[in-house]
Amino acid sequence: MLGCCLWGSAPPTPTGERKGAGWLELLLLLLLILSGWVLTQQPVGCPALCECSKGNRTVECINKNLTKVPPDLPHYVQSLFLMGNRISNLSSRSFLSQPLLELSNLNLSGNRLELVEAEAFARLPNLKQLDLSDSSLLWVSPMAFGNTSSPLEELKLSNSLYNYSFVTILAELLQRGTLQNLKRLDLSNNNLVYLPPGVFSRLPNLQQLDLHNNSLVSLHNVSFGGLHQLQHFDLGNNALKRLRNNTLLQFRSLPWLTSLVLSHNTWVCDCGIEDLANWLKESDQVEAKDALMCSDPEEKRNSSLVALDISDLNCPETADDQTQLQTSYVFLGIVLALIGVIFLLVLYLNRKGIKKWMYNIRDACRDHMEGYHYRYEINADPRLTHLSSNSDV
Ligand SMILES: *[C@@H]1O[C@H](CO)[C@@H](O)[C@H](O)[C@H]1NC(C)=O
Ligand SMILES: *[C@@H]1O[C@H](CO)[C@@H](O)[C@H](O)[C@H]1NC(C)=O
Ligand SMILES: *[C@@H]1O[C@H](CO)[C@@H](O)[C@H](O)[C@H]1NC(C)=O
Ligand SMILES: *[C@@H]1O[C@H](CO)[C@@H](O)[C@H](O)[C@H]1NC(C)=O
Ligand SMILES: *[C@@H]1O[C@H](CO)[C@@H](O)[C@H](O)[C@H]1NC(C)=O
Ligand SMILES: *[C@@H]1O[C@H](CO)[C@@H](O)[C@H](O)[C@H]1NC(C)=O
Ligand SMILES: *[C@@H]1O[C@H](CO)[C@@H](O)[C@H](O)[C@H]1NC(C)=O
Ligand SMILES: *[C@@H]1O[C@H](CO)[C@@H](O)[C@H](O)[C@H]1NC(C)=O
Ligand SMILES: *[C@@H]1O[C@H](CO)[C@@H](O)[C@H](O)[C@H]1NC(C)=O
Ligand SMILES: *[C@@H]1O[C@H](CO)[C@@H](O)[C@H](O)[C@H]1NC(C)=O
Repeated sequence: MLGCCLWGSAPPTPTGERKGAGWLELLLLLLLILSGWVLTQQPVGCPALCECSKGNRTVECINKNLTKVPPDLPHYVQSLFLMGNRISNLSSRSFLSQPLLELSNLNLSGNRLELVEAEAFARLPNLKQLDLSDSSLLWVSPMAFGNTSSPLEELKLSNSLYNYSFVTILAELLQRGTLQNLKRLDLSNNNLVYLPPGVFSRLPNLQQLDLHNNSLVSLHNVSFGGLHQLQHFDLGNNALKRLRNNTLLQFRSLPWLTSLVLSHNTWVCDCGIEDLANWLKESDQVEAKDALMCSDPEEKRNSSLVALDISDLNCPETADDQTQLQTSYVFLGIVLALIGVIFLLVLYLNRKGIKKWMYNIRDACRDHMEGYHYRYEINADPRLTHLSSNSDV
């Protein structure tokens, strides 16, 4: 019907030998229209087990035991919710079925995801938010977001690692340099015991970093220096014992960092806490700093870190500082050597006097010995014994 009307509006055709060709054209046009209809209709459909809203540009397939990303997603989708399924692998083929040019929010939390292969998200040119929380990641390719700059702004990896050993794999991804636009990174609830030293070195636009509820004991070797835009940094609920000057200096040098959370850590209030306690007193970067408490030693438990009296800690000047101890040993050695040199010098300068003195001693000795010898001989002579005893009287 539509084909006929279109055909009718077409320019008039010559009759006769052109009639056969006209039929062919009609058939072709019908096919074209039909395929066009199919093309425009198909994406409006919704994958089995999913709920689609064209108005909201969302597709939800939640808790459906899906083992892969549905292949027939509508092209309009901006937010794709795939929480609570069983998608364990993602690869470059996972989102290949349709060009999902609009997709900006992808939620895969609760999938026990294990493997994310190279280029898995590379074909999603507008992806801004990605939630991979509650996974069991064993491998994430450093090329998961391709080899060029990704538009990703938020990455959630809360409770995502199979165990904390796999943080090195994450570090490779973060250090790849493809996540230049990342603003929010969530690594909470991962049991992390340490952080690879340069893990945050290539995230120049990061504003929020969440590391709460891990098991971090020390930040000694970790560099935060590259996080020039960092505003909010959550280190709450860890096992931090103290923070050292190099870490504190880095915090101080971050111009936008105004919300640093350090609560619920296991601060040890011995001499090593001095730098942190002093810094806390003047810093306005720490949230609720009055609520920070010592957990050790026993007698300091529950006392406020800010209110700590440093002189109360009885810290020796050079306590626990190995290099200072070493320099003090070196200093002692130098002093001893100097004393030795001075002693030798004095000896040398007085060599004549000493010679004289030694001669004197020798002479005195000799005189004494001779006297002794003499007396001995007198005493030894039995004939003179009574004589000598008389002379003594
Ligand atoms: C769009 O989302 C809003 C709020 O989430 C919801 O109330 C509304 O029903 C949705 N619209 C459609 C067409 O599903
Ligand atoms: C998913 O699998 C679980 C366990 O096999 C089953 O209990 C549940 O009903 C399944 N859910 C759906 C939506 O099929
Ligand atoms: C995931 O990938 C591994 C290795 O590439 C493969 O052995 C496994 O079958 C895949 N699982 C699924 C559900 O595709
Ligand atoms: C993803 O879904 C989970 C579970 O519903 C939710 O808690 C989380 O906030 C969602 N993530 C994002 C980035 O919206
Ligand atoms: C990734 O990009 C870098 C430089 O841009 C290039 O040297 C490297 O070969 C690329 N790697 C792959 C696997 O394409
Ligand atoms: C983490 O899991 C791997 C693989 O199962 C295992 O080899 C490693 O010992 C585990 N590490 C820890 C700290 O449990
Ligand atoms: C802390 O993280 C562990 C997993 O690492 C999780 O089991 C626990 O529920 C989390 N605690 C809180 C209070 O979120
Ligand atoms: C810091 O790095 C040094 C040398 O690289 C290493 O010996 C030390 O164990 C590290 N400390 C921590 C707490 O990781
Ligand atoms: C840490 O820095 C403060 C002030 O900058 C300084 O007084 C203190 O001696 C430093 N502590 C150590 C252990 O170097
Ligand atoms: C410290 O405070 C906690 C919680 O407020 C309390 O349970 C604990 O008994 C206190 N410990 C001491 C030594 O005061």
